[in-house]
Amino acid sequence: MSLRTVVLLSGTGTNFQAILDRRASGSLAIEPVGALSDRPGAPGLDRARRAGILAIAVSRGDFPDARSWWDGIAARLRALSPDVLVLAGFMRILPPGLCREYRGRVVNIHPALLPKYPGLDTYRRVLAAGDRWHGTTVHFVTDDLDAGPRIAQARISVGRGDDEDTLRARVQACEHVLYPRVLEWMSQGRLAMGARHAILDGSELTEPIVFEEGQLL
Ligand code: GAR
Repeated sequence: MSLRTVVLLSGTGTNFQAILDRRASGSLAIEPVGALSDRPGAPGLDRARRAGILAIAVSRGDFPDARSWWDGIAARLRALSPDVLVLAGFMRILPPGLCREYRGRVVNIHPALLPKYPGLDTYRRVLAAGDRWHGTTVHFVTDDLDAGPRIAQARISVGRGDDEDTLRARVQACEHVLYPRVLEWMSQGRLAMGARHAILDGSELTEPIVFEEGQLL
């Protein structure tokens, strides 16, 4: 099964690139049918163009209000008939209507060991708290910000010498392996969203699958 996939992004798109690279190597059966961004200048859209994938920018500034803007995004998505929406650095909160329309078919990657640190500035907050561990989570998207059923996490240790930049670099290196892996599970029909938890190979994930940094890199 080749999943019709639309990637939503706001920035650099290194996760998107990792997904494209994995697909190009032949080990990820998805069909990327579009990349959509709220920022016309997002470098991630150039990655789509270079790969021959439809790049769509839907700027808030081109619409009179947030509602019509989201309606515009929903219409562009619908035209592509995606099986899955992959949020890869998309820095907007999906409205409830879109979450409902694509229920169980939207995944996100968030740079924290959720449920710790939903929202922004996770690296700064982890360092300020003196946490021993940080990481990233792939989860299903629901109405609750960064709180939908968790699927998988990558965990890294925080050392004395770490700062925001070193943590971000290590977390993102893990993301580039973790996200394609989760999408592979989806494309193989092994992953679904249940009422409360993700379901992998028929088992409810009351806790996400955790990979240590060394298992991924
Ligand atoms: C990723 O590290 C992702 O975890 C984070 O944005 C980065 C995007 O990088 N997402 C969030 O913060 C969502 N709350 P990329 O554009 O290079 O893939």
